[in-house]
Amino acid sequence: MNPDLNRLHPYPFEQLAALKAGITPALNAKPIALSIGEPQHAPPAVALRAMTASLAGLSRYPLTRGELPLRQAIAAWLTQRFHLQNHPIDPEREVLPVAGTREALFSFAQAVIAKPERAESPRPIVLMPNPFYQIYEGAAFLAGAEPYYYPTTSDTNFLPDFNAIPADIWARAQLIYVCSPGNPSGAVIDRERVKTLFALADQHNVIIAADECYSEIYFDEAAPPAGFLQMANELGRSDWRNLIVFHSLSKRSNLPGLRAGFVAGDAAILGKYLKYRTYQGCALSLPVQMTSIAAWNDEAHVRDNRDQYRAKFNAYLWADVRGVRGGDERQFTRDLYAEQNLTVLPGRYLSRPFEGIDPGAGYVRMALVAELADCIEAAQRIRAFLTG
Ligand SMILES: Cc1ncc(COP(=O)(O)O)c(C=O)c1O
Repeated sequence: MNPDLNRLHPYPFEQLAALKAGITPALNAKPIALSIGEPQHAPPAVALRAMTASLAGLSRYPLTRGELPLRQAIAAWLTQRFHLQNHPIDPEREVLPVAGTREALFSFAQAVIAKPERAESPRPIVLMPNPFYQIYEGAAFLAGAEPYYYPTTSDTNFLPDFNAIPADIWARAQLIYVCSPGNPSGAVIDRERVKTLFALADQHNVIIAADECYSEIYFDEAAPPAGFLQMANELGRSDWRNLIVFHSLSKRSNLPGLRAGFVAGDAAILGKYLKYRTYQGCALSLPVQMTSIAAWNDEAHVRDNRDQYRAKFNAYLWADVRGVRGGDERQFTRDLYAEQNLTVLPGRYLSRPFEGIDPGAGYVRMALVAELADCIEAAQRIRAFLTG
């Protein structure tokens, strides 16, 4: 077996199950889980109709690069959403459909990391935020690379400080994952930081993988978060060099089961990645492609989805519990479950101790993806827990 498989960490939910094992909650009421980020709003009717209308497409092998109408719908959406009218995205060369961003975030590292020519040379480095979406780490391990966890903590408003990553680390880096809006904090990376990142990535020839799967879940309709393509364009980098963005229908359109998203950006990188994907065999079936077209072409359901999230404040709460029950968020999680039958996710399961800091320690993640009534009930149980 591939020895790098042994480097993979258990998934956060496995650790959570172990933490909760053997506990019977005292509160004999409906269990509520704020631990899982799976969207639970209804999927859009427009997408469901497109799926039923296209089922006959199952009789055909789909193309890995996707049907042109899908790439056109994606390119049009990107151009509109990120104000790229002066340099519209080219659906032929600058877009590829993927089976959800998870698959793409993982396989992208496998395609782009160059293994050292000599076995005794140090491993290449993949930079990633800490805390993070665990796929980045597993992707780095299985690509034969070494993760470097750059902190995104309250000290920097949960944002990366790219200049604080040492020069010798940048020199060995081949790929950097960034997540904006970030999971778990929701922090949005600003233009100044992106400019710094572009300069460092150019200097060290590092590919930027920008995970923007939460870009459509925002609070203020008048101020959607800027994307990396948008900021690249504003900085005159409309060749998108060294930049690939990752987008998904899972959160935007409440379609996590569809497994559909896309990558867009640097055409030279995407050309090679397409070749990789052809061998990997992860083409989207035609009904999935047709459903995706309907979902990217419609903004009404996305606004409606945001309205539902807005009623609950935000998609994620990254809550500081350092002042509660001794400040250990695992104890907090266990007690909250035992007393109130309410599950949250300990921050440490989303982070790694690195250079003496564990940025997840003392935090819990609460995903407000359940129906509003359950979120209100959850808030009441937390109050009872804290005051009881
Ligand atoms: C930060 C982040 N990126 C990517 C994903 C993967 O989403 P999907 O594969 O459904 O597009 C998730 C899912 O929760 C996530 O939290």
